[in-house]
Amino acid sequence: MQPGPGNIPTLEGVRHIIAVGSGKGGVGKSTVSANLALALHMHGQRVGLMDADIYGPSMPMMMGLGPVDPQIANFPIEKHGLKIMSLGFLPDTGKGVLLRGPMVAKWVATFLTQINWGELDYLVIDLPPGTGDAQLTLCQTAPLTGAIIVTTPQDVSLIDAVKALNMFRQLKTPILGVIENMSYFVGDDGKRYEIFRHGGGLKLAAESGVRFLGNLPIDPRVAECGDAGEPIVSKFSDSPIAKSYLELATAIMDAAAKAGKEKLPEVAL
Ligand SMILES: Nc1ncnc2c1ncn2[C@@H]1O[C@H](COP(=O)(O)OP(=O)(O)O)[C@@H](O)[C@H]1O
Ligand SMILES: [Mg+2]
Repeated sequence: MQPGPGNIPTLEGVRHIIAVGSGKGGVGKSTVSANLALALHMHGQRVGLMDADIYGPSMPMMMGLGPVDPQIANFPIEKHGLKIMSLGFLPDTGKGVLLRGPMVAKWVATFLTQINWGELDYLVIDLPPGTGDAQLTLCQTAPLTGAIIVTTPQDVSLIDAVKALNMFRQLKTPILGVIENMSYFVGDDGKRYEIFRHGGGLKLAAESGVRFLGNLPIDPRVAECGDAGEPIVSKFSDSPIAKSYLELATAIMDAAAKAGKEKLPEVAL
């Protein structure tokens, strides 16, 4: 597969394309993308997962997948019931850190126009952190239903989340809502501990005039599952965090169905 735009009408059979973004790295964007995709699948949806983090693709490790035969690289790889594509699957292009801006944009275009995604209800796209070339290309190339902003409760994360929100607004991409990850921790005593002070995501959503989609707790098993190639929603499908993801997926299906059809209040940021 060569980087650059192709001409396979790859997105025609995709009902909703949802980009998962954040201002900061490390807030759990890839984790949320993977688990949300699985939660949507558990709700009976046909789901694809595109790893647009060209510099640091996470999906091969999170989903337990290695490099694939380039002959079949125009098709997403099926795992855990999802159709997945990542630059990390292509053996000779895995040197993401060496790519320059224009190449990043080309690879995002490649994934959108050369991969046979087939019939999907949702294509979830894991964006790199920040407001760079990948985001720009994506918003300008793909008919996005909308973007989701992931933040953690700390101010440093919230400040950058506002930047991401403003970028999507500038690019005229609808914002489906805000998710607060690592909101709280439930101890063995059953008590809820708000380690980073919770509520920032809710406040951000209210001040920006967008939906608040939900909170996700801290669970140390999230990282273990991510490193072991099976996201927590699949591995521990009865856990409280899996339940939170299923609720989140319901909120997102609702927001996607209404996207572009309702006018949320405009609030200056
Ligand atoms: N709710 C959570 N509880 C515990 N660890 C989490 C949670 N969400 C994410 N993590 C961990 O935080 C780290 C960063 O997450 P990642 O999804 O790679 O972030 P990003 O894609 O935003 O850079 C990973 O080690 C991940 O396992
Ligand atoms: Mg990531």
